[in-house]
Amino acid sequence: MTESSDIPRKQPSAFPGIKPIAIASDHAGFALKEALKLALGRWGVAFEDLGTHDEKSTDYPDYAHRVASGVADGRYRFGVLVCGTGYGMCMTANRHRGVRAATCTESFGARATRSHNDANVLCLGSRITGPGVAEDVLKTFLDTAFEGGRHANRVTKIEP
Ligand code: RB5
Repeated sequence: MTESSDIPRKQPSAFPGIKPIAIASDHAGFALKEALKLALGRWGVAFEDLGTHDEKSTDYPDYAHRVASGVADGRYRFGVLVCGTGYGMCMTANRHRGVRAATCTESFGARATRSHNDANVLCLGSRITGPGVAEDVLKTFLDTAFEGGRHANRVTKIEP
């Protein structure tokens, strides 16, 4: 793959007026990303795939920065990042002001990080979490609202 073919592919949203979510992976997360895209399509959730587009070795921070900057500037409602563990993606995404990324391995954590932390980026590890559980985690993340209340003040304290 050449450098130019790796430019994020922007597809027209099938849901005009509704902010899409951004999804991306490195090579290790590619297969799981593709599976999650099928699930998003089934659920009718608009998304943009910001790469990678094959299993050629690549660097996870490049994709985490793409997704996180789009969430931080309001282009995307949520981000989904998949690498081997979900950890490198999460560390990178959380360097962006306004991004609250969490690596989740099961739906209890996904529900908690949305309702208590107002997480806006979900990170998944393809070498830890299989496709069935990952799909369940993603569905829970998307379906859970931030509770606000006592959690709102705490979330504002996250930024240094
Ligand atoms: C790639 O081998 C792997 O290091 C990456 O996908 C990720 O797990 C890093 O956190």
